[in-house]
Amino acid sequence: MLVATRIKAVKEIVKKAKADKKSIGFVPTMGALHLGHLSLVRQAKRDTDFVVVSIFVNPIQFSPKEDYRSYPRTFIQDKALLQKEGVDLIFYPSSRLMYPKGFSTYVEEVRLSKYLCGRVRPGHFRGVCTVVTKLFNIVQPDISYFGQKDYQQALIIKRMVDDLNFPLKIKVLPTIREKNGLAMSSRNKYLTPQEYEKASCLYRALKLGKAIIDRGEREAKVIIKQMKEFIYKNLPLAKIDYISIVNANSLEDVQIIEDKVLLALAVYVGRARLIDNMVVRVRGGK
Ligand code: PAF
Repeated sequence: MLVATRIKAVKEIVKKAKADKKSIGFVPTMGALHLGHLSLVRQAKRDTDFVVVSIFVNPIQFSPKEDYRSYPRTFIQDKALLQKEGVDLIFYPSSRLMYPKGFSTYVEEVRLSKYLCGRVRPGHFRGVCTVVTKLFNIVQPDISYFGQKDYQQALIIKRMVDDLNFPLKIKVLPTIREKNGLAMSSRNKYLTPQEYEKASCLYRALKLGKAIIDRGEREAKVIIKQMKEFIYKNLPLAKIDYISIVNANSLEDVQIIEDKVLLALAVYVGRARLIDNMVVRVRGGK
């Protein structure tokens, strides 16, 4: 497994792989890898001949009050995990390399980014789109892999790839969960053992929302109210950033549920801001 910290080195290595007729799979990450990331890597290994993983905690997708400085950085462990998975190349750039002095060009998706996390994290998706564009241009993959836990991010990146004619395919893979149902996330590292146990109620709240819909309730605000009550009952110290029911394609809030909706939530548990979601199709929906 190769580790490159320079853009030129990545381009040369990938050029050589392509000259050898190898297809390129790419998994962009911010490191602190867990089984969710590894499931993307494993799919990339199955689909493509040469797998590249980037590890870069992207400063421009964090707002000043967020956890950029304290975000877990575990490169030595990450490298060992990726080596075991048979990854071909890690791209591990510095911030200065990605954003040199004078950097002033950004990529922004303006519709889907307005909702859900975009409402409470202004500039976040602009930072994501900008770094992912740069990474796509550097790595030039055939297929890139994202997790469904970050549903909105994956939808925005797909939109961006279509809108800007990037010559690659995006694959979105299911959320990987801990035994207690908690969605795997690098930020779970912030949780105390008690918080970790209790945070399982986020997934249970999503399942509750689905069960209420399955029983025939169609009014979004009734379902959201019950999900909120459930979370506060199980996790009184939680701070709910949002619980929303949105159209799964447009991400616009829905009042009355029909077709395919996304139940999405963002909740602070201790110092961790956790997100999770579930797609729910109602009978007759596609
Ligand atoms: O999902 C993430 O880890 C990040 O947002 C990404 C896609 C690697 C961009 O920094």
